[in-house]
Amino acid sequence: MQAQADAWRLEGRRIALVPTMGFLHAGHLSLVRLARKMADKVVVSIFVNPTQFGPGEDLEAYPRDPERDRALLAAEAADVLFLPSVAEMYPEGYQTRVSLDRLPHHLCGLSRPVHFGGVATVVAKLIHIAKPQLAVFGEKDYQQLLVVRRMARDLNLDVEIVGAPTVRESDGLAMSSRNAYLAEGQRPAALTLSRALNHARKQVAEGEHRAAAVIANAVATIQAEADTAIDYVKICDPETLEDVSVIDRPVRMALAVKVGRSRLIDNMALVPPHPPSSAQGETS
Ligand code: PAF
Repeated sequence: MQAQADAWRLEGRRIALVPTMGFLHAGHLSLVRLARKMADKVVVSIFVNPTQFGPGEDLEAYPRDPERDRALLAAEAADVLFLPSVAEMYPEGYQTRVSLDRLPHHLCGLSRPVHFGGVATVVAKLIHIAKPQLAVFGEKDYQQLLVVRRMARDLNLDVEIVGAPTVRESDGLAMSSRNAYLAEGQRPAALTLSRALNHARKQVAEGEHRAAAVIANAVATIQAEADTAIDYVKICDPETLEDVSVIDRPVRMALAVKVGRSRLIDNMALVPPHPPSSAQGETS
């Protein structure tokens, strides 16, 4: 992969990397298409990275279908499918890890303490391997996008980290390989995430600026369906992920909810009217 990347760079080609864990869906393919628009050569990696799964998480069960993935990428005219083995990525004696001080201590990082260290490590390695000028990540994993962007900046990686909008099913469910775990009958519960976010977006656009009130509404929407167990419902600063209590600027709402054995995440920007409406003050 490095030799191929060097050859392309010598020819003056611009390389885009799309890192994935496979079991590709339309969301991944939208990343590949964006990469294709922005670069001459597109490398897609498929690697179910063991270091980003904690004990008891779904590493073994993670859905895999490399032959289907290969066909989908051929149809998108991806230039390289990079499919390393665990032994190639983490050979005997491997002992280096990339860790971030603050961003992982919010949202998903609280219930998945090893996750973002594993993501930052593998993405740094993939960038050194594929030598891209740009790498594309979905906004569906918003915290991951921030972690990768920060890591690339902090380590002076000569790569642009591009975020791409979340792709949704026609009923609003954010696309995810883990949707494959949803049992029949769990769809209404899964749809509470996007419903709660859309409602929150509308409330904030109409002038509600109390984060606690928006969160309480979202919790009620999610809990209205049996089969949901909330991990978190947060409204946070879109860069630092610190909690926000007064929505007086654009913020991010992020959710993680267990539906049966699937842990689903989703997020959306909430943008207040400008200037913030005084119609719904703290006393209302
Ligand atoms: O989002 C994913 O699929 C993974 O976390 C990534 C970025 C490929 C790193 O393993």
